[in-house]
Amino acid sequence: AAPVQYQAESATISNGLVESNHAGFTGSGFVNYDNEVGSSVEFTVNAGTAGPAALTFRFANGTTTNRPMNISVNGTVVASNLSFPATGAWTTWTTKSTTVTLAAGTNTIKTVATTANGGPNLDRIDVDAQSGTPDTVA
Ligand code: GCU
Repeated sequence: AAPVQYQAESATISNGLVESNHAGFTGSGFVNYDNEVGSSVEFTVNAGTAGPAALTFRFANGTTTNRPMNISVNGTVVASNLSFPATGAWTTWTTKSTTVTLAAGTNTIKTVATTANGGPNLDRIDVDAQSGTPDTVA
């Protein structure tokens, strides 16, 4: 199935702000995580069937320091300290991908900053459920 896009500004944000002051985002903005450990964005995504899914995070990091995050699926950390390296400018957006296993139906994907710098600016995630079943947007 084609990837389904989930905008960060439409997700559940804990200790972060929706902003739109750095060009190049998709949708209506991006999430600026608070600069602290534990700031997070949680997406609710749908998978047609259980199985592997490619997650692609679109982000910008205008600092010179990596901003790692833990990625949880349905409450379990599946990628620890996934790196979100410097992109050169807050207006320079790039992607980071990882593969996770989703359950059939509704899943939660939570991205949690693990350093005092908080997360990168997050534009969206694309979820490509590799099941061959068309995805539906939750
Ligand atoms: C700057 C930038 C923000 C970014 C923040 C940060 O304030 O304008 O978009 O989120 O730095 O360091 O997290």
